[in-house]
Amino acid sequence: MLKSHMTTGRKNILFIFAMLAVFGFFWAISGERAHQMPADDNHIFVTDTALCKGCHIPAGSNVVSEKHPPKFECLKCHKAKRASGGR
Ligand code: HEC
Ligand code: HEC
Repeated sequence: MLKSHMTTGRKNILFIFAMLAVFGFFWAISGERAHQMPADDNHIFVTDTALCKGCHIPAGSNVVSEKHPPKFECLKCHKAKRASGGR
């Protein structure tokens, strides 16, 4: 009786750790590491991936590098705009 009770407690703890691992995974892929856009005239009002590509895909003025992750919705990863000036 007591033994089975403890087992349930352990399962709950394992479950909590499993949930933390899942949330940690989503946090890790949520684009936290993506560069912030500069808060300049080029970016401040831009909310459309098509416009990003106009400047950032080869032949644009600021090319995305070869090792860039898959380039679909830019704003899924590049959410924040940094304060003008520093990185
Ligand atoms: C009008 C052209 C233009 C448009 C549109 C544009 N960019 Fe840029 N972007 C630039 C230029 C030029 C730079 C580099 C100079 C600077 O820092 O402003 C830059 C810099 C960046 C950087 C920083 C790169 C680094 O090395 O840190 C990111 C991230 C970025 N852009 C993402 C985006 C995203 C996402 C969009 C669409 C929402 C977008 N840009 C739209 C021209 C543009
Ligand atoms: C899956 C998430 C993701 C998406 C979608 C994405 N980016 Fe990025 N981007 C990143 C990450 C992470 C980095 C940093 C890569 C590095 O340091 O090598 C980055 C770096 C950049 C840079 C800095 C220069 C470079 O090439 O490393 C620019 C500019 C940029 N992204 C623009 C864009 C544009 C424009 C789009 C849409 C066409 C886009 N990104 C879509 C995650 C993303």
